[in-house]
Amino acid sequence: MANILLVGNGAREHVMVEAILRSKENPHLFSYMKANNPGIAQFSEKIKLGSYSDLKAIVDFAQENKIDFAVIGPEDPLNNGVVDALAGSGIPTVGPTKSLARLETSKSFTRNLVDKYNIPGNPQFKVFTSFAGVESFLNDLEGIVLKPDGLTGGKGVLVQGDHFATKQEALNLCKQILADSSSLIVEEKFDGEEFSLQCLCDGKTVVATPLVQDHKRRFEGDKGPNTGGMGSYSMPDHSLPFLKPQDMQEGLEITRQVAAALLKETGSPYKGVMYGGFIATRNGTKLLEYNARFGDPEAMNILPLLETDFVEVCFHITEGTLDKLKIEFKQKATVCKYVVPKGYGLPADHPDAASSKAKIEVDNVGKARLYYSSVDKKEDGLYLSSSRAIGIVGIADTLDAARLIAEEGVKAVKGPVAYREDIGTDALIQKRIDHMKKIRGI
Ligand code: GLY
Repeated sequence: MANILLVGNGAREHVMVEAILRSKENPHLFSYMKANNPGIAQFSEKIKLGSYSDLKAIVDFAQENKIDFAVIGPEDPLNNGVVDALAGSGIPTVGPTKSLARLETSKSFTRNLVDKYNIPGNPQFKVFTSFAGVESFLNDLEGIVLKPDGLTGGKGVLVQGDHFATKQEALNLCKQILADSSSLIVEEKFDGEEFSLQCLCDGKTVVATPLVQDHKRRFEGDKGPNTGGMGSYSMPDHSLPFLKPQDMQEGLEITRQVAAALLKETGSPYKGVMYGGFIATRNGTKLLEYNARFGDPEAMNILPLLETDFVEVCFHITEGTLDKLKIEFKQKATVCKYVVPKGYGLPADHPDAASSKAKIEVDNVGKARLYYSSVDKKEDGLYLSSSRAIGIVGIADTLDAARLIAEEGVKAVKGPVAYREDIGTDALIQKRIDHMKKIRGI
């Protein structure tokens, strides 16, 4: 029996709860959330609502409930040093310390680390703390990516062609980023297809989980503003239809080398999830960024497939013994579709923006799985609360069957909501395959 503390309140954490409670270890779950998630609350022995920066409240809650180990879902508490605070009270955690979480929280830290240890995958890049030299570096690049150095909720990266067109616009944006952020990273833009490789790491051993492709754009056909992710899919062979086996192997090798570099650089082992956002290009796999946690929605693709006991996985991560555990996933396809308020991602003055706090009804989702994210449970029912509301997941032997299950589930959510119908369709996947063929010249 284990008392487990979960920190987080999204759909990613709802699916983590499901994985924890499948354990044969008979775990007792205690959840610390910044806003109540009815899916998490329903399965928790006790919940506490509070800020992710109130580390004392988190540690007190853990101590009161004799927590054996903690699992951290989102990046904010990691950035605030929750793992260090819990360690101070002798509580081990699945999640990196504040210093190691720089893998996600400081894009310059990661680019410089990869560079220093001669790990492949970096673009041409430069980190700027002032405007001096920015213009001349922009002139060296074919395509440009601009990143503020810090947490941006997946929405701060600006890509030429998507968010701006000309060098002059890039220069203006650089000035703005330098005014708002400690530093600016200017990078070469890659052409290719993106994939998420979420790895489990105990500091020494790095284990890959099935590959997932997320869809960040708000609207069908990858149009509209970037979001936290509108949905994602994975395949029964744990690869993706537009990748060659070596693409994934290169991403895994980069992650293994980064884990080793982190240990060398900081002297402490990274225990948690190293989620690499990679891109397959003409010249092999390149690193876009790391996250120090499971992806949201990507956690909903992989955790339901995990055959190995998740509590055991967590225990081996905290103990540094992942090499002793065989970690297996079901050979199934998954499609996750996020149901969002109609106004999600739209400007505040858009007519649909008013839908963001409306009441919704959830009927029977059939064979789909449902994971709550930003919803508010009031006495008279369920309300949207501005952001992504509910993750609906279909799991089946084929991608199309998984997609149809997810579609049926999505239709059970009634109210002023939206989702992307195209995620998991043959047409969208064929577009990715054709794009990679063109890039590879085949
Ligand atoms: N799927 C994007 C993220 O979790 O950051």
